[in-house]
Amino acid sequence: MEKLVIKGGVSLKGVVKISGAKNAALPCIAASILQPEPIKLLRIPNLKDVKTILQILELLGCQYQWNGDEVLINTKDIKTYECPYDLVRTMRASILFLGPLLSRLGRAKISLPGGCAIGARPVNLHLKALELMGAEMQLEQGYIYAKAKKLKGADIFFDIPTVTGTENVMMAAVLAEGKTIIRNAASEPEVVDLAELLRAMGADIQGHGTDTIVIEGVKELRPVIYTIIPDRIETGTYMIAAAITQGDVSIEDCKPEHVGALAKKLREADVNVELQKDKIRVCANGEIKCVDVKTMPYPGFPTDLQAQFMALMCVSKGACVIEETIFENRFIHVAELRRMGADIEVSGNKAYVKGKTKLLAAPVMATDLRASASLVLAGLVAEGGYTEVRRIYHLDRGYEALEKKLIGLGATIWRERE
Ligand code: EPU
Repeated sequence: MEKLVIKGGVSLKGVVKISGAKNAALPCIAASILQPEPIKLLRIPNLKDVKTILQILELLGCQYQWNGDEVLINTKDIKTYECPYDLVRTMRASILFLGPLLSRLGRAKISLPGGCAIGARPVNLHLKALELMGAEMQLEQGYIYAKAKKLKGADIFFDIPTVTGTENVMMAAVLAEGKTIIRNAASEPEVVDLAELLRAMGADIQGHGTDTIVIEGVKELRPVIYTIIPDRIETGTYMIAAAITQGDVSIEDCKPEHVGALAKKLREADVNVELQKDKIRVCANGEIKCVDVKTMPYPGFPTDLQAQFMALMCVSKGACVIEETIFENRFIHVAELRRMGADIEVSGNKAYVKGKTKLLAAPVMATDLRASASLVLAGLVAEGGYTEVRRIYHLDRGYEALEKKLIGLGATIWRERE
């Protein structure tokens, strides 16, 4: 296993370019199954999760070529509908094959994703929605067995706006018979990106980006070349990195409109944030204030930036409450931040942070992707030696070239074998 070693204390300065969005790339790759001609996706980030989803495609009998940030996928020879446990257990997003496999082959067998470090994360809403569209579902020996002769449009109401659930239903509905309405749909930019890809393939989708998506099934889809959106969580992580190190960083090739909630919170905390067309400059010079944050579905403050923002609050002035409303166990980073000297109390889904703590370098353990990012941010300002972030395979799932990009901004950080 590898670890990251960080010597804190450098103010980050310079320019960082943002990669394609992991959580948009994954559903767009799964959507390639919906038609048999080659599809080319551009701006695909080089990440472990992307490798995993491409490996599953290969096991299904599809082919791909991955050159730089381009992936060419050919699903003509798809021969099986089974996504095995060994791969699915490493990446929950494998559930994104359920809708496309049902649509293309009328069957799917996918290992039921288990809980993960941040919560139980059931997929009951995906299954219920696809059942409404005429699929028969059975759970046996840890697998979801799904079949449908022909999926039919349905009127679906999600009890909770689920991101991958909305994506699964959209992918199932584009070739289904008749109209599907998804109510209380997720409106995250990644859902919109998938909808745009599907529309470019000839799908009839309206309302994406709102809470009601209407899909009229079409007879067939066509191949496309499509560019994935920039990663808003990577963007936000570098915005917080600039703030926490009292730095001055220009974040390029991003979509400022996707990080509105974070930009607002940073400004409230007295960090200078300039939003331009596809560029953000974050500059901190002086005291940062603690501000309360509550995670919410988009366009609210993203749960995927909660841990990173908490690291910033630990070294800011005052006290604040950070409330997590999306996942029930997303405070695992708190214990590790405390090992670095942070003053945080957790009660239920609220973390009470007392700021102005000097963070001290320590060995810490990454527990999930975004928690790991918060520990790296804490390491960038920690005093008194070297912070070692262990189990960084979590980071490799979601941050392309993290240490290279940080080194480019002046950070002292490197990777070592444990
Ligand atoms: N939920 C259910 N039943 C379901 C589906 C969801 O109860 O069938 C609940 C979840 O347990 C959670 C809430 O609904 O409490 C929202 O979960 P959602 O389904 O939206 O999450 P997801 O689709 O599994 C995606 C991202 C996550 C991100 C969340 C929230 C992908 C591949 N993953 O997960 O990203 O945190 O949306 O925005 O798109 C990450 O990148 O680190 C990550 C965890």
